[in-house]
Amino acid sequence: MTICTEKILVSQEAIQERVRALAEEITRDYKEKELTILALMKGSVVFLADLLRLIPIPLRLEVLPVSSYHGGIETSGVVSFAQHFLPDILDHHVLLIDDILDSGTTLKAIKTCILEQHPASLRSCVLLHKKVKTMQGIHAEYVGFEIPDVFVVGYGLDYQEYYRNLPEIRILSQRPAT
Ligand code: IMP
Ligand code: MG
Repeated sequence: MTICTEKILVSQEAIQERVRALAEEITRDYKEKELTILALMKGSVVFLADLLRLIPIPLRLEVLPVSSYHGGIETSGVVSFAQHFLPDILDHHVLLIDDILDSGTTLKAIKTCILEQHPASLRSCVLLHKKVKTMQGIHAEYVGFEIPDVFVVGYGLDYQEYYRNLPEIRILSQRPAT
């Protein structure tokens, strides 16, 4: 079986346009607020870099290395992150940034930890959302694109650490080796 990428699901142009709109919305919502952006690494790195530069208000940036897939294409259900990486967010308005909301296991685990530290507010922003798979009660306030239940790579998203550098979102497909 060879792994290869096939069709483009979201083009560079579509991403650019949507990221701009999300940034405008976030800028409006957090204008007068003490904002801390907490980006989940590594998947959100490309999205974060583009989004951040379009939000022209004072903010703090923190990053949190998180892993839940451990190399496969199905979530392992176990979310690992180092608690000591969590910044002091007491009374800050926290905006979590992630590449994709799939089952919701990751966001649920991180949100629970953040809420224990009493932020002024907590919202999430994801570039992609696989609605059909997300567990009930988990949602993101800012969503770039709703996508079907397919495994995607590019624009920061990986398969076994590869493909993060693709400029667009592509569907990963498995084909018998020839
Ligand atoms: P969840 O915990 O099931 O919501 O999964 C969220 C995390 O799994 C994301 O932060 C991604 O890193 C990873 N993930 C989920 N779906 C995909 C995909 O289609 N491609 C690449 N990574 C994915
Ligand atoms: Mg991730």
